[in-house]
Amino acid sequence: MEFSLSEEQVLIRDMARDFAKNELDPNAGEWDQTAEFPVDAIKQMAELGLMGVNIPEDLGGAQCGPVALSLAITEIAKGCASCGVTMSVTNMVCEVIDKFGTPEQREKYCPRITSGEYLAGAFCLSEAGAGSDPGAMKVTAKKAGDKWILDGEKMWITSGTYAGVHVVWARTGGKGTQGISCFLVEGDNPGLKPGKKEDKMGLRASNTVPVLFEECEVPSSALLGAENEGFKVAMMALDGGRIGIASQALGIGLSAQEAAVEYAKERRQFGRPIGDFQAIQWMLADNETELAAAKHLTMRAAWLKEVGKPFTQEASMAKTWTTEAANRVCDNAIQVHGGYGYVKEYSVERNYRDVRVTRIYEGTNQVQRIVIGRNLLV
Ligand code: CAA
Repeated sequence: MEFSLSEEQVLIRDMARDFAKNELDPNAGEWDQTAEFPVDAIKQMAELGLMGVNIPEDLGGAQCGPVALSLAITEIAKGCASCGVTMSVTNMVCEVIDKFGTPEQREKYCPRITSGEYLAGAFCLSEAGAGSDPGAMKVTAKKAGDKWILDGEKMWITSGTYAGVHVVWARTGGKGTQGISCFLVEGDNPGLKPGKKEDKMGLRASNTVPVLFEECEVPSSALLGAENEGFKVAMMALDGGRIGIASQALGIGLSAQEAAVEYAKERRQFGRPIGDFQAIQWMLADNETELAAAKHLTMRAAWLKEVGKPFTQEASMAKTWTTEAANRVCDNAIQVHGGYGYVKEYSVERNYRDVRVTRIYEGTNQVQRIVIGRNLLV
């Protein structure tokens, strides 16, 4: 059994770590307050190769694999969780085009994402009435000669205002999970209208909007994968995306823990640093242990993907454990800070708000347990 990283993986991790420390962490508090999408930072991330970490070099990617991608998302999320989710979803979109696209689709879209020409990619699956149950989606795509016409509204779309390309699921045939197809729609298509930005509890610098499709015309070449086979494309993409969210939650948890350890050394009560007290040490010890377990589960899921083995269950286990552990870690980090943890001057307040959604998006943790449970009982 080998636990060490390759030289390349260490390089990517350290590069992402340095960038996050110098460019993201000092600004993350302000971006949170202004709820501003950090365009320049996102462009810089593309320049560093972070928008196509697991994409082949001939498509402009870094070709470093899923383990390196997970490591990089963790580092970026440690500096700015909003940048972490933007990166995770954009990489997922690029991967789904790389995996299911025709040579023309891959060559057209992947380099635009990896180079930063497109600020982001969007994953348009959820709708108002189709969240945990995407098989209930109502957005339609109807054939009209050599075109498709999309109509309806998607919801909770990460980077929906800024994405150069949207991967959109729409109903083209029968009921439920059958009869769903997947399309590539460019961000400047006149029939695609991003709606009002959601006013969120956390991840305030990430962009989350509804996206309306109104007689949105795309050519027949916009179909991604086979007609009526789109649901499986979504599920396979989400398997990888869930490793991304586990990695993001890990980064948020690590940020909170680092702040809590520092604070425990500096803050004095009863004439000594509060870290001298077992009550504080135990919280820090629990945090460290939970994060270590989270890291191992996340790395294992990423490694299984890297070596081409099934990883659906492991991705759901990593997502469930890591996001729940990170929520507990952020809660403890506030407790260590006492009243100071409850004010915006301290980053743990933002960590606590940012981490909450990781138990909800890319499949609630209840859905993850369905995936794990069904896998056990086949
Ligand atoms: N890989 C390949 N195929 C899969 C699969 C997988 N991981 N999971 C399911 N399938 C296939 C099944 O084998 C089945 O195939 P057949 O029709 O040939 O039998 C088909 O897909 C339908 O599967 P199910 O019957 O299991 O479907 P279901 O309706 O019972 O749903 C579910 C299962 C796990 C609950 C699924 O609906 C799900 O994952 N829901 C959550 C959706 C989600 O994660 N949304 C996140 C939105 S994106 C987001 O949040 C991004 C962001 O902005 C941060």
